[in-house]
Amino acid sequence: MAISFARCFLSSVSVRSISSIAVSDSGSRLKVHLEVKGSVAKEYSSLWLRHNCQCEECYDSLSSMMKVHPNQLSEDIVIHKADIKDDVIRINWNSPNFGSHEGIIPLQWLKNLHMKQESRKDSKPLVAASIPVLEYSDVIDSDEHTYQWIRNLNYFGICLIENAPITTDVLEKLVGKFPHVQPTTYGNYPLLYAKDDPTDLGFSTSNLHFHQDLLYYESPPGIELFHCVRRDSCVVGGENIFLDFYPVLEELRQEAPQYFEVLTKVPVSFQRRHYMKNDVETPSDMSISRPHIQLDRYGEVAAVNWNTHHQEPVMLDDLDLLDSYYKAFLYMSRKIESSKYHLEHCLLPGQIIAFNNRRFLHSRNSFQLNGGFRNFHTTYVNIDYLRSQFLVLGKALGFNESPKNIFMSTL
Ligand SMILES: [Fe+2]
Ligand SMILES: [Zn+2]
Repeated sequence: MAISFARCFLSSVSVRSISSIAVSDSGSRLKVHLEVKGSVAKEYSSLWLRHNCQCEECYDSLSSMMKVHPNQLSEDIVIHKADIKDDVIRINWNSPNFGSHEGIIPLQWLKNLHMKQESRKDSKPLVAASIPVLEYSDVIDSDEHTYQWIRNLNYFGICLIENAPITTDVLEKLVGKFPHVQPTTYGNYPLLYAKDDPTDLGFSTSNLHFHQDLLYYESPPGIELFHCVRRDSCVVGGENIFLDFYPVLEELRQEAPQYFEVLTKVPVSFQRRHYMKNDVETPSDMSISRPHIQLDRYGEVAAVNWNTHHQEPVMLDDLDLLDSYYKAFLYMSRKIESSKYHLEHCLLPGQIIAFNNRRFLHSRNSFQLNGGFRNFHTTYVNIDYLRSQFLVLGKALGFNESPKNIFMSTL
């Protein structure tokens, strides 16, 4: 049903950020002309505005926390009166059940929400043609370079740091740029090395398929770091290959949408199961089920899950669906192996590679130690801190760039 509006207020000349507001005849809608890169007419529901009222009684601006309780709301809330003063919309709501409330909606708050929605359109990750490189001393000593590092991780999902010491405290210093590490059953800063009878193939000399780490966690870690502290000249092989999953998935969506869809539908379990005590990890028995591709409400990729070492049998009673799954799974696997986006790097002592484990796959060539050692210190940081530190540090330094980093939708 069409809603008619009665213009109730025209802004004065001094209020340049808005041309007018108008309340619908029923009082259930408010139309606002926002001046953001031109004039944009937006329509808001009276209940939504009441729910998001920014007055002191309803909202705590210091903590950015809402104080209004849903029980204070009802579907019959209408706008009785609205006007603008000093770039703030003042609204008087009425509800037969809850009486009246006088509150405020700042124009800037509406503009910020609009801009955030718009920024989604250009928030696609950037795909690196080669691995960006920074100097360790720069990243440690300068906030601008720390920001550059976090920005590279945010935009490209990968960054190499060179000329770091090969001491054990290096990763701790670097990860201190984020609030916390993400502890795992391997500890906080496990040493990755080839050992006899490993309970994890990562601690062997064999090759590793393209994979993401720790998909059996409720929150798989977002940032993963390898710090090479020793690689003797007699060691042969062991190069790492990184693959940005984002362009691979976009290709898949274009060339084989039916496979893309199957991979968003079929649940797959990833497990970590071993009961042997040893010096590198605690016994564990974990399993979580997720489709390989998870979408947000816009149909954009919100998360990917790929680890063929830790995958459990796919259990489907519908064998036709299972056949479709295997077609899609094998197609995806071949795409991963033959992708033009492989970034191969042989990590040398003093080099640290950091990458987004929610967006990148990594693999490893097999290697021969020939009597030598290949040792990495490793650690993880939760994905939440990548976006948060990008915004917090960026704001402190006067940058106002939008995150482009990860699939996870925030809108
Ligand atoms: Fe791994
Ligand atoms: Zn209020």
